[in-house]
Amino acid sequence: MKVKVSRKAHFNAAHRLYRKDWDEEKNKAVFGRCNNPNYHGHNYELVVSVYGEIDEETGFVMDMKVLKNLIKVEIEDILDHKNLNIEIPEFAELNPTAENIAVYIWRKLRLHIDMKKDLEVVLYETPRNYVTFCG
Ligand code: NI
Repeated sequence: MKVKVSRKAHFNAAHRLYRKDWDEEKNKAVFGRCNNPNYHGHNYELVVSVYGEIDEETGFVMDMKVLKNLIKVEIEDILDHKNLNIEIPEFAELNPTAENIAVYIWRKLRLHIDMKKDLEVVLYETPRNYVTFCG
């Protein structure tokens, strides 16, 4: 029997969306308020879900203590209160959009979760805007 278990997490981070090869006008038109040259913050809400068989011995799909700690060490401790463009090497040349951050989070967590289980990352950039990545 397969069940999806989920853990919510949270981090604050600053970013700026822009392309060096576009002029100011085009950057503003495409990226809007997220193009502010002085950066700005978002309160990111994260939902990480693991889908798989219930273990017969424990009754767990995944031990939530383990998942909680994994999200803390691999994601929150790395991204919280950071400037994503400046402090996270993966976003030095890649725009830290919600889409790209969700893929980054998924890739980092995937390395530590049993491959027999499916992993889904949902990332809210605002209460109304969110993205989902399942690999
Ligand atoms: Ni933004």
